[in-house]
Amino acid sequence: MSDIPVEKVYRFGKKVVLYLEDCYLGMQKYLKTGEVDVVVTSPPYNIGIQYNKYNDNVPKEEYLDWLENIAVEIKRVLADDGSFFLNVGGKPSDPWIPLDVAERMRKHFVLQNVIHWVKSIAIEKKFAENCSAIEGDIAVGHYKPISGKRFLHDNHEYIFHFTKTGKVELDRLAIGVPCQDESSVGKRCRGNTWFIPYETIWSREKQRPHPSTFPVALPEMCIKLHGLNKTKLVLDPFMGIGTTAVACMRLNVGVVGFEIDEEYMKTAVERLQAFIDSKDFC
Ligand SMILES: C[S@@+](CC[C@H](N)C(=O)[O-])C[C@H]1O[C@@H](n2cnc3c(N)ncnc32)[C@H](O)[C@@H]1O
Repeated sequence: MSDIPVEKVYRFGKKVVLYLEDCYLGMQKYLKTGEVDVVVTSPPYNIGIQYNKYNDNVPKEEYLDWLENIAVEIKRVLADDGSFFLNVGGKPSDPWIPLDVAERMRKHFVLQNVIHWVKSIAIEKKFAENCSAIEGDIAVGHYKPISGKRFLHDNHEYIFHFTKTGKVELDRLAIGVPCQDESSVGKRCRGNTWFIPYETIWSREKQRPHPSTFPVALPEMCIKLHGLNKTKLVLDPFMGIGTTAVACMRLNVGVVGFEIDEEYMKTAVERLQAFIDSKDFC
């Protein structure tokens, strides 16, 4: 679907490897069967986003065939007890896209959890009476302007949690929230609605370096939910500007990423280097 660039490899310490290469070919070349514990990724959604290189506007069946082929390769490299977190959104005029993608994945994986990534939310005080922290009606997160009268603002995306068996045990309390009930202490499961607002990422030239990133907290929460103590290697086949790799560096787990675009790779390398420069990294 895109021109395959000359392969380039960027290594940070022993644990972080980024390949400027098509993910399908890259996985075949560099990854052993079953060696990946967690895949966290957000592929192109085929909604006409203006990427530098990738054409995000192809016939739907062609797009789904392409993604399904990649999923088969993801299944090969994923451990039998691994987790595959697939973030997909649609657009108001085509809300079926994530569900069409999930339907293709269904042939190869078990859908163990459906998580809703909530990017913005409004809470009215009258519905939050038992929560003293909410003092009035609030709207948090970024609301993208929407034109026309047909559609609602689209403030959520899916994170499909696929596994091979549907029986992978998770570390729910690693991303748990405090118990609200005063009689109980500790944490409880946060459930499948995750409010994570966008971060602002600007380049030195004050331009957005990539048109569709997810926040670092998203891969971080996925990896912790799978279980940090059983995660040695994470894969992001559609790495963009390296958000999953930044999360892995923060969590001190290994990561392999693929990206076909030199400019996005350059930003990913800069972000990782900035993290290293700010920490003792080995
Ligand atoms: C939705 S973006 C991922 C953004 C990423 N999650 C981040 O936060 O930076 C999808 C990315 O996939 C890349 N891409 C498209 N086709 C690819 C392929 N065959 N192999 C590797 N990367 C690809 C695009 O260039 C784009 O940067």
